[in-house]
Amino acid sequence: MPKLIVVTRGGEEQEITGESGLSVMEVIRDAGIDEILALCGGCCSCATCHVHVDPAFAAKVNPMSEDENDLLDSSADRDETSRLSCQIEFTDALDGLKVRIAAED
Ligand code: FES
Repeated sequence: MPKLIVVTRGGEEQEITGESGLSVMEVIRDAGIDEILALCGGCCSCATCHVHVDPAFAAKVNPMSEDENDLLDSSADRDETSRLSCQIEFTDALDGLKVRIAAED
């Protein structure tokens, strides 16, 4: 299974694995990391699954939709590496992906 590296808000790095085909949000949640609230359950309507994607993987993750882009605008911690983790499909090609959980809004 592909590997995912998650940096928590406290700066702690956790290496987890996840099933290909799940979203990055689901992989993080299933690993028991509770800093991702994912209040809407992955429907792209809450922005509580906001992460920063390591720039090395920017070209490998699936592109952002207009809805995701609009929703991210509501976050004060948004920058050019921001994504909603429920909208990133975790695949074998993303093995070793590193994401940092964004600040709480
Ligand atoms: S879980 Fe709500 S937008 Fe991602």
